Amino acid sequence: RIAGPSGLVIFGVTGDLSRKKLMPAIYDLANRGLLPPGFSLVGFARRDWADQNFAQVVHDAVREHARTPFREEVWQQLAEGMRFIPGTFDDDDAFKQLRASIEELDASRGTSGNYAFYLSVPPKFFPKVVQQLKRHGLADAPEGSWRRAVIEKPFGHDLASARELNAIVHDVFEPDQVFRIDHYLGKETVQNILALRFANQMYEPIWNRSYVDHVQITMAEDIGIGGRAGYYDGIGAARDVLQNHLLQLMALTAMEEPIAFDAEALVTEKLKVLKSVRLAEGLGGHVVRGQYAAGWQGGEKVRGYLQEDGIDPVSTTDTYAAIKLEIDNRRWAGVPFYLRTGKRLGRRVTEIAVVFQRAPHSPFDSTATEELGENAIVIRVQPDEGMTVRFGSKVPGTSMELRDVTMDFAYGESFTESSPEAYERLILDVLLGDANLFPRTEEVEESWKILDPIEEYWTSHGRPAQYPSGTWGPKEADEMLARDGRSWRRP
Ligand code: BG6
Repeated sequence: RIAGPSGLVIFGVTGDLSRKKLMPAIYDLANRGLLPPGFSLVGFARRDWADQNFAQVVHDAVREHARTPFREEVWQQLAEGMRFIPGTFDDDDAFKQLRASIEELDASRGTSGNYAFYLSVPPKFFPKVVQQLKRHGLADAPEGSWRRAVIEKPFGHDLASARELNAIVHDVFEPDQVFRIDHYLGKETVQNILALRFANQMYEPIWNRSYVDHVQITMAEDIGIGGRAGYYDGIGAARDVLQNHLLQLMALTAMEEPIAFDAEALVTEKLKVLKSVRLAEGLGGHVVRGQYAAGWQGGEKVRGYLQEDGIDPVSTTDTYAAIKLEIDNRRWAGVPFYLRTGKRLGRRVTEIAVVFQRAPHSPFDSTATEELGENAIVIRVQPDEGMTVRFGSKVPGTSMELRDVTMDFAYGESFTESSPEAYERLILDVLLGDANLFPRTEEVEESWKILDPIEEYWTSHGRPAQYPSGTWGPKEADEMLARDGRSWRRP
C-alpha cells in the first residue's frame, strides 16, 4: 500500500499536534517508502515564514519526534516539496496563493491535483476554512483527481453543535471526502481487536452474556493537562476521550462480525452497538466525574487541576470520568460495560478487560479457591502492547490450592515488525482514500447522544469529586463498581 501522487495541506500547522504527530508521521511514511516521490506538504498559518522557515520547523519536529532514523536523502526529497502560505483564514489573497501553490506543485512535483486538507484548527475556525476552500474552488477536485478534508476532534461539544459542524462541512464536501480522525483507531492494537475476534475460532463462542460477567475499558494517563488549559478547560475528560476513543473501543469490543472488512460494513456494525447503548435509570451512582488534586507522581509533587496555569480556580471541568452502560441486544443483555478515563492517574495504560463469570460449580473445597479471581482476557492497547489471558491454576505442592496465572502475548516478542504510529497509518489511509479507520458522521452523533444526558446530569449535580494525583480516581468510582459487587482492575 503506497500512496499515489498527492499532497497534504495543513491548516494550523504551527500547533502542537502538527509538530508532535503530523510532521514526524509524514517523514516516517516517506522514510518507509510509502509516499510518492513528488509528495508535497503545504503549511498554512498566521506566521511570517518563507518556505525555508517552514521546512526548518518541520526538520526540527522530525529530528525530535520521528520514529525512524533520519536519512538526509529522504529529508531532501521531502523538503523540496514544502511550501508555506502565510495568512489568516479570512484572507482571500492567502487562499489564492494556496491555489497557485497547488497548481505549481502539480506542475513541478506531479501531485496531479490530489490534495487532502487537514484542519488541525479549533472547531470555531472550521466554518471559515471550509467556506474559503469552497469559495476558491479548492474543495472540488479537477477532473480525474481527488480532494479530501481531514478533521480533528473535538467534533462538537454536544449533539447540537456536532450537527451544526457536520452541516457546515457537508455543505462543501461529500461524505466520502471527509475523514474524521479518532487516532485510537489508528493504533495497531486497536485494529487487532477485530483480527483477534473474527480471525480466530476460540474467542467468539464465549464473547457474550452466557460467559462474560462484565467488561472494563480503561484509558488512564499519568500526565496532567500540561500546556493545554485553553483547549481542555470547559471540555473535560468525558468529551475529550470518552465520547470518542472509549466509545469506539467499546463498539469494536461489542460489535457483531461485519459482512466484509470495509468502511461501510464496519460502520453498520459499530452503529448498531452505539444505538443499543442504554444508561442506568436516573444516572445517579452510575456516572462519576472527578478532578485531580495535588499529589505525588513519579516521585514528584504535582499541583492540582485548579492550580494549573490558565485554569479558572473554580472550574468544574472533569479530568476523570467513569460510566456504566449496558448494550440492549441478545449478545450483551445484562452485561455491564464500565468505561473510565482520567489524567494524573496511577500510570499510563489503556486496556480492555473482558471479565468472565465464575465457574458454575467447583469440585474443590473453598479454601483451595480462596485466592482465585475471575478469568479474564485483557487486550493491552498501550503501552505494553499485547494480550493477557488470566485463569486459575494449581499451585505446585502436595495440596490442592489454586491461584491466578497469566498467559501473555507481547508484540515485541512475537513480531520483529515495528508498529507504525497511529498518525502514520491514518495519514496514509487518507491519501489512499481508505475510510475503514475513520468514524462517520452518524457514529459521532450517536456518541454525543450517549454523552449528552451524562453531561447534563453532571451540570446539575455539584462539583466533580477530587482525587489526589497519582491515585486511581475518586472513591465514588470505586463505590460505583462495589455496589454491583465488582471492582476496578489495577492495571
Ligand atoms: C487525545 C486527547 O485525543 O488523546 C488527549 O485529546 C490525550 O487529552 C490523548 O492525552 C492521548 O493519546 P495517546 O495516544 O497518548 O493515548
